[in-house]
Amino acid sequence: MKTFTGRLKGGIPGHDTTRRSGCSATCSALPRGSPYGRRVTFPEDRLPWRVAMDRALYGPDGFFVAGAGPAAHFRTSVHASPVFAAALLAVVHQVDAALGHPARLDVVDVGAGRGELLSALGVSAGCALGARRLRLTAVERAARPADLPEEINWVDEIPDAITGLLLATEWLDNVPLDVAVQSDDGWRCLLVDPATGEESVGDPVSPVDEEWLDRWWPTTPAASGARAEIGRTRDEAWAEAVAKIDRGLALTVDYGHLRDSRPVDGTLTGYRGGRQVPPVPDGSGDVTAHVAVDSVASAGERVARCAYRLVSQRAALRALGADGGRPPLSLAASDPAGYVRALAAASTVAELTDPAGLGGHWWLLQPVDVALDSLMAR
Ligand SMILES: C[S@@+](CC[C@H](N)C(=O)[O-])C[C@H]1O[C@@H](n2cnc3c(N)ncnc32)[C@H](O)[C@@H]1O
Repeated sequence: MKTFTGRLKGGIPGHDTTRRSGCSATCSALPRGSPYGRRVTFPEDRLPWRVAMDRALYGPDGFFVAGAGPAAHFRTSVHASPVFAAALLAVVHQVDAALGHPARLDVVDVGAGRGELLSALGVSAGCALGARRLRLTAVERAARPADLPEEINWVDEIPDAITGLLLATEWLDNVPLDVAVQSDDGWRCLLVDPATGEESVGDPVSPVDEEWLDRWWPTTPAASGARAEIGRTRDEAWAEAVAKIDRGLALTVDYGHLRDSRPVDGTLTGYRGGRQVPPVPDGSGDVTAHVAVDSVASAGERVARCAYRLVSQRAALRALGADGGRPPLSLAASDPAGYVRALAAASTVAELTDPAGLGGHWWLLQPVDVALDSLMAR
């Protein structure tokens, strides 16, 4: 999540911000912020970004598996407001109805953090749909939290044969990816020193990555020094998730960009302790990059053989009835406490729907073998 403008993952209140293997061992230095081209030889201490991210986030002492959990470092929609979980509950109801109220309804949360979303959804969904019909599953690489409600299953792989809703909020942006830089002879793999974040230029990208870049990250005219984040690993992760659904809906919510407006310098960034920081893959903080959502959508659609829908979070929440409007002033006179509560709820909706922040996130809806025509306006 780069651009350093405070968009992307929301900040924590009180703080100021809301492969390929085989790259060469000797490479040319690319000091952050300097133009591509200065050549210095480095020892073999550099890794492709995908490998460095994977170790930093999911290695034995990785940021997401060993630490306090994402909520200690940044705010996602899940943490920003209970309105988010309430809106997803409405989606659960719509999926249940579209499936004809099956005997077992799955709600699977991929990249579940510490299970916050399923905990919030579970009680109300269980009451409304019947706890016996509902199967809640958190998919996470971190260990099961000790205080998680027992009705939530905790696994490290997406289960097969899902009937229901597969959710993934701010998962794909943390799927490790390679980064490329445009040189005079084409795209080359960027390498990184995991201890410092200093980058170097490695080998030309692999043919499959080059193909992805040609299709999904066009640069016209090819500009030497331009960066690109190769979203192929996210496409594959999403396609695998969609393939696990027998019938139902896959919904991912994340920040991202489209082919016609890719960020020229990429979006790779870090988060630590509630602040946006330069990306250093040393395990002490989050390292993340926006998602090429159209490429991901296309990969999922190929598996599902069903048209996807891509809408902004702002549009999605409004379609689900969360419009963030202020309560009528007359309520202040008749029910002052209720007015204050309604005002507070409206302000959290405003955070979720702010087009410059969480409201600019994308909702990608991928139906599988089910008609969901009525689900949210375009
Ligand atoms: C940014 S956090 C989002 C947490 C939560 N969904 C939210 O919106 O607040 C991303 C989470 O995805 C998890 N994750 C990443 N790749 C995963 C995978 N392949 N399987 C399971 N969990 C994964 C990470 O461990 C991390 O907890």
